[in-house]
Order: sequence, then structure tokens, then C-alpha cells
Amino acid sequence: MWEQEIEKRIRNEALKSKVMTPEEAAMFVEKGMTVGMGGFTAVGYPKAFPLALAARGEALAKKSEANSSNVAGDNTVTEGNLDITLITGASVGDEMDGALARSGVVKRRYPYQTNKDMRNAINQGKINYVDMHLSQVPLWMRQGIFGPIHLAVVEAAAITEEGNIIPTASIGHADTLVACAEKVIVEISTRIPTEIEGLHDIYTPEKVPNTQPIPLTKPGDRIGTTYIPCDPNKIAGIIFSDIIDGNGELQPADETMSAIAEHLIDFLAEEVKAGRLTNPLPPLQSGVGGVANAVLSCLEESDFTDLTVYTEVMQDAVLRLIEKGKVKMASGTALTISPSGKERVWSDINSIKDKVVIRPEEISNSPEIIRRLGLIAMNTAIEVDLGGNVNSTHIGGTRLMNGIGGSGDFARNAGLTIFTTASTAKNGEVSSIVPMVSHIDHTEHDVDVIITEIGAADLRGLTAFERAEVLIKNCAHPKFRDELRAFVNKAEEREPKGHGLAAYGGTK
Ligand code: COA
Repeated sequence: MWEQEIEKRIRNEALKSKVMTPEEAAMFVEKGMTVGMGGFTAVGYPKAFPLALAARGEALAKKSEANSSNVAGDNTVTEGNLDITLITGASVGDEMDGALARSGVVKRRYPYQTNKDMRNAINQGKINYVDMHLSQVPLWMRQGIFGPIHLAVVEAAAITEEGNIIPTASIGHADTLVACAEKVIVEISTRIPTEIEGLHDIYTPEKVPNTQPIPLTKPGDRIGTTYIPCDPNKIAGIIFSDIIDGNGELQPADETMSAIAEHLIDFLAEEVKAGRLTNPLPPLQSGVGGVANAVLSCLEESDFTDLTVYTEVMQDAVLRLIEKGKVKMASGTALTISPSGKERVWSDINSIKDKVVIRPEEISNSPEIIRRLGLIAMNTAIEVDLGGNVNSTHIGGTRLMNGIGGSGDFARNAGLTIFTTASTAKNGEVSSIVPMVSHIDHTEHDVDVIITEIGAADLRGLTAFERAEVLIKNCAHPKFRDELRAFVNKAEEREPKGHGLAAYGGTK
């Protein structure tokens, strides 16, 4: 079935004998293994492999159920499910996180997810989830903190003569994964043109204590190889897939998102006027989703030019800004183009190779580079407290939403750290500006500016009580301001010379 694709995409003759079905490849997984899979957002992740693995897991679970009902009461050990530890670059599509969660194959999950069924399984305690800074995942892998990586599964557009791997639309931690894993399965996607070769720049730091400075001083610098180095002897199997990446269309910005975006652009313009930011602006990092896309879209209409982007995820707006000549260089670890824009991008991929670079997440999210470039980091909060602490991950302090992702890598190290949020949630019933956050991801020390659809609060250089005042005045929804002020007043009454805002605790 795949003869032509095998000829075109596997350039190493010996490796052609490793082609197998996804079902055969899934048999490499043994109970309790640690399996790393490539991908970052719902692009560039293996799809046929996890679907086959999920089917195997379901079959095992059924068999186990049947066995246990047949032999109820005796000590027969049943096979059960596979109980793997799954480590990805970040979120992935439903073929992986959804299918593996539904089939009960995953027992432990690192470091980020956005899938409904995976999230539910985590919140029901069926899957043990560990929320990590994304830049740290490859470091832990190299240092052996996850234990042995038994199997790596990565998506590729092609395999070179030497057995090296040409990635697809994202890299995530695939470079380190391939280097550290005992065995590698390559899933070749026939949906991605082989002309993608040359878009990537793979640089993997040495193991501590031999780590060297990363020689990157501008977003567009190319410092590595165009392929993921791979010892061909490690490749245990090659499978083919024509399943399309699972990312969906981005919703158009609503009124709230547009207002947030406008406040943010106005804030940056004021900073330039005041001489606190350069023009052209330092490189931009923006999170994923509607607000991030709205901010970048708003830049299209702004006076800013000669922009550069140094981020994790490059969404549609980045390519539009490139087409319009507003952005001259963009670097990220995933090129997450909506389905409607994909064909155009893939059919003319050579035209963006001098303006777009896809890198490993260890480099796109590197604290060293983020600090060196003085990035403007723009991410989304679930809630923000009056001290400026941000919760990005847990609803009500206990229900996981997605995870911290790369937001902490950027927030702690950027030149300017901005968090955006709508001033209210749940149809206006809940304030996103709260006395104390129910869970902290980014402390007041990492947060410079908060922006809601109401306005912007610049928290830099302010004391705890000054922060509270500016957040209530500039960002909180009017209907929650009195309630928030009451908390501040109580705190001041309790401890007039108090420094922190802990006095809010227990006043509810
Ligand atoms: N109180 C209670 N619930 C809240 C809330 C609040 N203050 N704010 C949001 N929510 C709920 C929403 O109602 C929604 O619930 P639902 O799924 O039941 O409808 C859910 O949280 C998500 O809110 P939404 O406004 O749709 O979020 P989003 O798509 O803009 O994403 C984050 C916001 C914070 C979840 C997302 O940006 C994220 O995961 N961030 C962390 C990782 C990150 O920043 N990655 C990029 C870094 S490079």
C-alpha cells in the first residue's frame, strides 16, 4: 500500500525492511513501560501508533475482565491493561491523549495536556499527572529523572540516508527523546510534504555538567541540524500514516478578546513612547488560543513593524503577519496552522523557510535565551489575585484544566511578562480578579502586567497594597470592585503596617 511512499520517504535502504503495521509496532509496548511520544499541540504527533496501542489496551482490558469473571475468587494473575507512563512534548491530538485515556492504557502522564478525556481521567484520579515546565522535560530525560525511556515514537516526514529523522510540524522534545530512548518507532506522515526538510533547526544541549552556552542571539539564528540525529540501529519499526493533524479552526476573536488585545497593543505603544521598550519591539512570545491570536491579529493593524517572534506555538496570525511584512522572523517549536490554511502553507513551504524556524522545546523555551532576548511574554491566566499571583492551571484550586505548559518558562525569564484574562468567568458570575488565587503557578515576582478587557495594571515597582488598588481600579469588573476593596480594607485593618496580603485569608 505504501510502496511509493517508502521509496520517496525512507532514503536509507536497510531501514526499508523495518516497515510494519501500527498494530505490529504497538506490540513493542510492555506493561509498565515509559513511552515518550513526539508532538506539540495537535500537530506533528504520532497518530496511527497510539490508536493501535489504544486498541491493544482495550483488548487486554476486556480479556482481563473476562478472565477475572471466569476465575472469581482464585489467585490467577490477570494481564490487565498496559499502565504506561506517557511523556510528550506538550499537548497532542485526540488520537493520542484521548484514545489512550479512554482505553485506560496510561497510568502516569507528563508534562501538559489539553484533552477532555485525559483531563477527566486525571481529575477522577485514574491517571497520575505531573505538571512541569516544558523546558525542563528534556533536561530531566537526559539526567535520567524519569528513569529509562523504553520506547520513543516520533512523527517524521522522511528518514535520511544516514537514518536521521526529518520532523513534521512540531518538534517538542523529540530530539532528546530519540537520543535517550532504548528503541525508536518512526511514524511517517504522508500528509506532510518532504519539502519541509530545511525548516527545522535541531540543537540539543549536552548533559550537565558539560552544558555550553546556547549560541543563539537572534530569533532566526540557525545553530543545529535540519534533522533529528538518530542511530539507525535504534529504529525498531517504521509505520506509515495518512491521518490528518487534529488541530481545529481558531474561533474569531469575540468582543472581550478584541478589547484585551487592544489594551495590550496600547500598553506596548505607551512603553515605547516612555522609552521603556525599544522600537522595533523585543521578540514576542504569545500563548495559545483565542486571546493570543487576537493580540497578534491586532498587531496587523498597529504601527509596529520589523517584529520578530520567539515563541512556542506559531499560529495562523504569525504567518499572516509574515505575509503582510510586519514580522520578519518567527521561531517556535510548533507550526500550528488551522485546517483551512494548511494546504496553502504546505504547498508553498519553501517560501517561508527563510522566515520561520521550528526548534526543540528546550531551545524555544530556554530560560537562557528568553532572558538574553528580553522577550515580551504574553500568556493567559485563569485567575489573578490582588498581590499579582497568577493561577493558570486549576479551577477552584483542585480541578486541573491543562497545565502550566511553557508559561512559567517565559514568565519567569522574559524582559516583560504580561498575563491576560477576561475580568469575569462563568457568564459574568465569577470574578477573575480574586483576593487570593486558589492555586499559584506564577508568583507576584514573575508577573509584571495584568490586562483584562477593562484595562491594564502595571504592577512593576508597586507594593502589595498598591498592586491591589491598581488591579481593582484597572482590571476588575465594576460589579466586583466593592467586594474586592472590602478585602483590602479588612487586611489593612488587621495589620495596618502589614507587608503581604495574607491578611485576606479567612475574611471571606
Ligand atoms: N474561575 C472559574 N473558572 C474559570 C475561570 C475563573 N476565574 N477562568 C476560566 N475558567 C474556566 C472557563 O469557564 C472554562 O471552563 P469550561 O471549560 O468548563 O468552559 C475554562 O476555565 C477555560 O477557560 P477559557 O476562558 O476557555 O480558557 P482559554 O482557552 O483562554 O485558556 C488557560 C486559558 C489558562 C486554561 C490556558 O491559556 C492555559 O492552559 N494556560 C496554561 C499554559 C500556557 O499558558 N500555555 C502557553 C504558554 S507558552
